[in-house]
Amino acid sequence: MIYNKKPMNKQTVLTGITTTGTPHLGNYVGAIKPAIEASRNHDVRGYYFLADYHSLVKCDDPERVRQSALEIAATWLALGLDTDNSVFYRQSDIPEIPELTWILACSTAKGLMNRSHAYKGMVQSNEEAGEDPDHGVTIGLFAYPVLMAADILMFKADKVPVGRDQAQHLEMTRDIAQRFNHRYGELFVLPEAAIDDNVATLPGLDGRKMSKSYNNTIPLWLPEKQLRKAIMKIKTNSLEPGEPKDPDTASIFSIYAAFADKSARIEMRRALLDGLGWGDAKQKTFELINAEISEARVRYESLMQTTDRIEDELQKGAKKAREFAIPYIQKLRHAVGIRSLA
Ligand code: TRP
Repeated sequence: MIYNKKPMNKQTVLTGITTTGTPHLGNYVGAIKPAIEASRNHDVRGYYFLADYHSLVKCDDPERVRQSALEIAATWLALGLDTDNSVFYRQSDIPEIPELTWILACSTAKGLMNRSHAYKGMVQSNEEAGEDPDHGVTIGLFAYPVLMAADILMFKADKVPVGRDQAQHLEMTRDIAQRFNHRYGELFVLPEAAIDDNVATLPGLDGRKMSKSYNNTIPLWLPEKQLRKAIMKIKTNSLEPGEPKDPDTASIFSIYAAFADKSARIEMRRALLDGLGWGDAKQKTFELINAEISEARVRYESLMQTTDRIEDELQKGAKKAREFAIPYIQKLRHAVGIRSLA
């Protein structure tokens, strides 16, 4: 495929993954697996990238930034991301993105950024703690939505699959694009958020949503024994084997269901109602998850040993991405008046 023109007949789907932390089962079910399936779809043009500049907003540990980028890239490749049919790249390999961020920043109202949930949340907790409202607030945090808008607008994305928590960022991206288009001409495509509420949000060890911020995650690539151990730690109630259990309030059932096909799901539901013990339900859940990921785990471990293969893939992706980004940023620079003087 030639990447410097946007084919009229294909939708562009784009999504980014912030490179902080280690991929966990919740990431896998909620974001990674659907994106990998979409990467094989020949009717869309997919862009998937490591948002490493975004990670600097949340993380000032250089080793962790690098390690997380490595683990996430290896994860996507091990799980079979189709990098021939899609573009898989690292944000920081595309200098046109930060360049566009600045251009956008100059036509983005500060007042729009003031409304950002992440920023407002920080201000509010500062106020509650009796701190200065801007305590710990960096320009990076404040301008985070502008960088995200640049990610999206740079590749004329039509659809952006994200979690509900990112809906506001998509609205802001549209606002930013509209304002720019109004000023300089119709240069940006207005993207839409693709929020799939059917995608399972996985409960974590303690029953709340599995999330790094709750420290209740099960890492995706634990060795088999440790994966089993972690699953055994998922919180249940104290009902004994033989006592009927309510699948709809059991985290272990939600997790099982996220990996099971329909008939296995129905069977597990019935088994719990019939008194299946929690230990047995956990063992079955472990077996199901392990069967799904064990082949990919071998590929993951091998990729982590040969990181140059990962780097090569990212460079291949960056090249394709820049075939589009370079001529486009030229156009955008021209539009705002940054032009040759000759
Ligand atoms: N902010 C997103 C998140 O935390 C990650 C992200 C960065 C992103 N740039 C993006 C998602 C562009 C979609 C499109 O989940």
